[in-house]
Amino acid sequence: MGCINDAYNRPINYLRVSVTDRCNFRCLYCMPPGGVQLIPHEDVLRYEEIELIVRAAASLGLSKVRLTGGEPLVRLGIANLVHDIAKVPGIDDLALTTNGVLLTAKARDLARAGLRRVNVSLDTLRPERFYRVTRGGELAKVLAGIEAARAAGLTPVKINTVVVRGLNDDEVADIARTTIERDWHVRFIELMPLGRSSDWAHDGYVSTEEIKARVETLGPLTPAGGAPPAGNGPARYYRLPGATGTVGFISPVSEHFCFQCNRLRLTADGKLRPCLLRADEVDLRAALRDGAGVAEVAELIARAVRLKPEGHGLAKHEPPAGRTMSQIGG
Ligand code: 5AD
Ligand code: SF4
Repeated sequence: MGCINDAYNRPINYLRVSVTDRCNFRCLYCMPPGGVQLIPHEDVLRYEEIELIVRAAASLGLSKVRLTGGEPLVRLGIANLVHDIAKVPGIDDLALTTNGVLLTAKARDLARAGLRRVNVSLDTLRPERFYRVTRGGELAKVLAGIEAARAAGLTPVKINTVVVRGLNDDEVADIARTTIERDWHVRFIELMPLGRSSDWAHDGYVSTEEIKARVETLGPLTPAGGAPPAGNGPARYYRLPGATGTVGFISPVSEHFCFQCNRLRLTADGKLRPCLLRADEVDLRAALRDGAGVAEVAELIARAVRLKPEGHGLAKHEPPAGRTMSQIGG
């Protein structure tokens, strides 16, 4: 089926669904120490509501779904949602982004329910640093989680590393080195000035150019196109000499990648965001609780598609006040 195009002729085929704004970590650049103001439970979409929205999205030709958070695995019964979404006709790819801690417990159930693969956020390979950056997280659990995901067939496993100066920029080469032996696809992400990160963004930002130079101290990088089996995203992939895995770069700040944006984001409280970095939202929850069915919701999704801006204009716009990545959905 053909999918819906936005006003700038970009095909929109990808829906990111935040299932909760709660998280079992408090990453320094993402959350204040006490966490953020949480969405009241009754305002969080129920699984039936999410499923209906996915059906509506599929009716417009969106075919790829990713579950995010907060931390999606802290939501009770998440495998049930995976199961329901995996069954929706037209959805041919279903993935999840997680901090990895709960994967050891949940990877098998998720795979059995129909999840295809996971992205794991991992900013450092040093245990003490990991503890500090996540404010209390245990690195060993995440590494075990990654193994559990692999064992369960949730592959290829992609690792997301946000590079922050003074926090982990000195570790870029060490993290990239893991791809030589392991079948990891590490993607280095530029820090975006978003919510909590606005405080960090000024001094913390490291450009892809600089990150890449650090990786290249290990050897020349060969372009690997859209590896690992072609993703939906803006990463550019490379391979180190003789490496099993790949190293990717995601450059939301330094590169104008908006021209190939293919996504919409659904927040845990049922707002559809045409762009991560702009404040516009279309309220699906209100419509659903007013009795809207698949057709009406599809109409609203189409409206959000039409609202997609040409670019995030990071240079020109203030970051959306108050909403952090954990609140919008990573
Ligand atoms: N810039 C870039 N990435 C971010 N993430 C959270 N905040 C930011 C930011 N300001 C990342 C997390 C995780 C993913 C869900 O989003 O580290 O990899
Ligand atoms: Fe860290 Fe992600 Fe949780 Fe934010 S949502 S605190 S980045 S694990």
